[in-house]
Amino acid sequence: MQSKQRVLTGITTTGTPHLGNYLGALKPAVIASQQVDTDSFYFLADYHALIKCQDPQIVHRSGREIAAIWLALGLDTDKATFYRQSDIPEIPQLAWFLTCMTAKGMMNRAHAYKASVDENQRQSSVDLDQGISMGLYSYPILMAADILMFNAHHIPVGKDQIQHIEMCRDIAMRFNHTYGEHFVLPEAMVEEGEPKVLSGLDGRKMSKSYGNIIPLFAPADELRKLIFQITTNSLQPGEVKDPQTCTLFEIYSAFASHEETMVIRQAYANGIGWGEMKGQLFEYLNDYLSPARKRYDEIITDPAYIESELQKGAAKARAHSEPFMQRLRSAVGIMSLVAESGTKHHATKVKKELNPEAQAKADAGKAKAMAIAKQRADEDAQQLVMQVDELLKKIGASNNPQTAGEEALEALQTQINGAKKKAKKNLQQTFELLQQRLSS
Ligand code: TRP
Repeated sequence: MQSKQRVLTGITTTGTPHLGNYLGALKPAVIASQQVDTDSFYFLADYHALIKCQDPQIVHRSGREIAAIWLALGLDTDKATFYRQSDIPEIPQLAWFLTCMTAKGMMNRAHAYKASVDENQRQSSVDLDQGISMGLYSYPILMAADILMFNAHHIPVGKDQIQHIEMCRDIAMRFNHTYGEHFVLPEAMVEEGEPKVLSGLDGRKMSKSYGNIIPLFAPADELRKLIFQITTNSLQPGEVKDPQTCTLFEIYSAFASHEETMVIRQAYANGIGWGEMKGQLFEYLNDYLSPARKRYDEIITDPAYIESELQKGAAKARAHSEPFMQRLRSAVGIMSLVAESGTKHHATKVKKELNPEAQAKADAGKAKAMAIAKQRADEDAQQLVMQVDELLKKIGASNNPQTAGEEALEALQTQINGAKKKAKKNLQQTFELLQQRLSS
């Protein structure tokens, strides 16, 4: 049986998501989550937020807004695993393991870091690293931990993030080479036909740091105002215009269908005036965005609902990250002194005695066995979550959920006492997860 493909992406909780974020990450992610042959993992990257933003209120508020956006866009949280990075303590633990596997030279070439160095150079700073924190410098490693923790295959991101995925692969390969095949090598998933990066109000790349964004759920009047601020050239109505160099056309075509875009292309050839084109772009975007914007306005006023969704996601994510981290810890040699330690030595000995061909075969066999074991573990974790969901559903539907919850736990305890080793462990896990979910 082929295991499901995993899609994972995170969004940093600073500022307000804009149209570029929507096209580059949010939209493809929600679509991917609806496919039956994929498991999707989507999260709020709040540890990443600390790199850019030291205002606790903004970090906190932005987390809530971004969660509300995912939910408003129709993310099915029963199907997808939707969580907050900081609810998963295994992620920063893994980040350290990966830090020890990362070449410093590679990090020197990271775009975000290099851009800051360039800026210092431009300002003729004596210290080229001025104002650059280790958080900024090593953030691709934290991102790699986000991805590798869930062994994701596909990462929907904007083109500006491709380099980070390549670095992630590099780090994963090094880890696998050193400690055995633990990680899947992820691939960036970039929307086909998507413009390189969406342009903002001033024609430069739409980006929080340039202050030229159009927020995804700006109220209609603000959306209109922003669209009318988009820079255009000085051509008059009636003069032929070039769609290829025009921000208005770029944004329009990024949302519209091919046919709709052809109509506008013709209008440029016919010399449509900028004012009229801006009006058309506003109408189009407003119609496109308003149903989700309405849901957003409802969700954002209900933080308890948002939090409960995030807790549900955290429980699902940790059912995977906890056992996986345990496995990685023993792979690097960090484990209890009374745990089995013979296997690795044994494997090394076998390695030396085999010829290259036999070794390749043995390695392939080992990798396959590990992949199977891993898949089993994943399926077990998934199974566990489903079982508990089922129990919670029954408990929720009963006349007195409080008592029903207690009774379910009691029944499990009785079964645990009577069970044999493997079954006992499974029941124990079910018990713990149910207890945790009932109390949250
Ligand atoms: N660095 C990404 C951004 O700025 C956000 C992010 C953090 C992310 N961790 C990730 C994206 C893991 C994909 C996968 O957009």
